[in-house]
Amino acid sequence: MTDDLSTEQIKDALTGRFGEFVRFFEEIGSTNTEGLDWALCGGPEGAIVVADHQTGGRGRWGRSWFSAPGELLQFSLLLRPNLSPNRAGILTTGLGVACARAIRSLTDLAVQIKWPNDIVMDGRKLAGMLVESTTMGSTIDAAVCGIGINVHLSEDEIPEELRARATSLAIELDGRDVPDRAVLLGHILGEIEAIYPAMTDDATSVLAEAAGLSAVLGHDVVVRLADGATIEGRAESFDDDGALRVARGGEVVTVHVGEIEQLRAVDESGAT
Ligand code: BTN
Repeated sequence: MTDDLSTEQIKDALTGRFGEFVRFFEEIGSTNTEGLDWALCGGPEGAIVVADHQTGGRGRWGRSWFSAPGELLQFSLLLRPNLSPNRAGILTTGLGVACARAIRSLTDLAVQIKWPNDIVMDGRKLAGMLVESTTMGSTIDAAVCGIGINVHLSEDEIPEELRARATSLAIELDGRDVPDRAVLLGHILGEIEAIYPAMTDDATSVLAEAAGLSAVLGHDVVVRLADGATIEGRAESFDDDGALRVARGGEVVTVHVGEIEQLRAVDESGAT
């Protein structure tokens, strides 16, 4: 079952300033592409691009992002943070915290953050984030924060090849009320707006909250790097910019760009 999404419903659900400027599309290639174009033409901080359906949704590392009309919440938020590009990772960390807070406040689901950009429920992916930035001199000019959340998808509607790893709010809530996409959007934007000053300041509180919500810290992991190499070790902590620190043998490796390929629980004795 789906719900209606329109500019009016989005505006009615806003809880703050973010989202006041909105471009809504029944169908679009990618809200991030539209957001980047808007940013180039002077789009203001807090502007959002929302689509009922994307035909060319992008994921990280050149992957495509699955969409189905009416089933997902898919939007991009334009930020103009006063941050140097090498601190851009903190934006993804903050977005993850904001999404987790919003989902936890609207449902009883104890969702977690799978570093760096997934929201998961019992290990299955519920949402993904893709931050694309443009820079000017030594600061970020615009950061287009794309968020996709599987809201109404049933098991059958999830492509077979993703089914074991993906889930939706409807699947997890199993017959209980699923929040409307506009309401979910309003809550997420409100949480991002609330956490934004800390994200762009020293971010200590954001990192502490992200650690508490992490599905990764304390686990043995295999992390795949952008060049295809892997690092195996124990996910220990986040650094000041949200990079993952992995203990391997006697050393600690800091991973700025990567993704978790394997995640293993560690029992209390430390054995895996
Ligand atoms: C990932 O998990 O790899 C990131 C997925 C990000 C998907 C969202 S949906 C809204 C926005 N528009 C896009 O094209 N991608 C992001």
